[in-house]
Amino acid sequence: IGKNIVALQEVDSTNEEAKRQAQCGAPDGSVFLAERQTGGKGRLGRTWESPAGTGIWFSVLLRPSLVPSEISSITLLAGIAVCRGIRSVTGCAAKLKWPNDVVIGSRKVCGILTEMAAEIERVEYVVLGIGINANTEAFPAKLAEKATSLRIEAGSAFPRAAILRAVLKELESLLLNAKAGSAFQEILDEYKFLCVSLNRRVGFFWNGEQQTGMAVDVSPSGELIVERDGGGRISINAGEVVVQG
Ligand code: BTN
Repeated sequence: IGKNIVALQEVDSTNEEAKRQAQCGAPDGSVFLAERQTGGKGRLGRTWESPAGTGIWFSVLLRPSLVPSEISSITLLAGIAVCRGIRSVTGCAAKLKWPNDVVIGSRKVCGILTEMAAEIERVEYVVLGIGINANTEAFPAKLAEKATSLRIEAGSAFPRAAILRAVLKELESLLLNAKAGSAFQEILDEYKFLCVSLNRRVGFFWNGEQQTGMAVDVSPSGELIVERDGGGRISINAGEVVVQG
């Protein structure tokens, strides 16, 4: 990963750039990095604020030999890689809010947007889009309650390149392990260990209504298993899950 790094001053979205380059044959493991995004994208159709100078906005193009249903495992893996990378460089106790918001305490320090191009049987490519708030000194009032940066948490600024390198290194080693197959249970265990949504009361949207329950497990394909207050165990595979209390 990262043998081919494309660093841009400005782009609409590094995920969009990665997808364009994927169509033109960019190799597995290519990384697209931008100082600033003019149309940064978040999950669930949201926008992602991507100003110049303080963030690490990048996308990794992967061409894995997987079927579409196996892709969620890559999403879990990406979250673990970011947590490990952040911990190793900054010492901050980064954790995961399901599915893969990286949080420190209760505030989000990094978001991950996974996109893929696939036919029914075959994945053509996966784009892992990762946005890390590295050296932001302060957030606007409406974000300050929910967002944080490595600098705010650790009290000092970090070289962005060191964090990027650490995350890419962890991602590469996790992907190699996952390929070996045998390590998948360990990866899932690490994910569960890092996941702050587990064994917590959660709110979520289900069957067209807002509901609550207890998050009890994460399935091998990355779904959050919830015991609903209304009764019954369900698997949630997308959308917003709010940790309560
Ligand atoms: C989220 O938490 O909603 C996901 C945010 C993902 C943001 C990153 S920044 C780099 C890449 N390019 C994008 O347009 N989005 C992702």
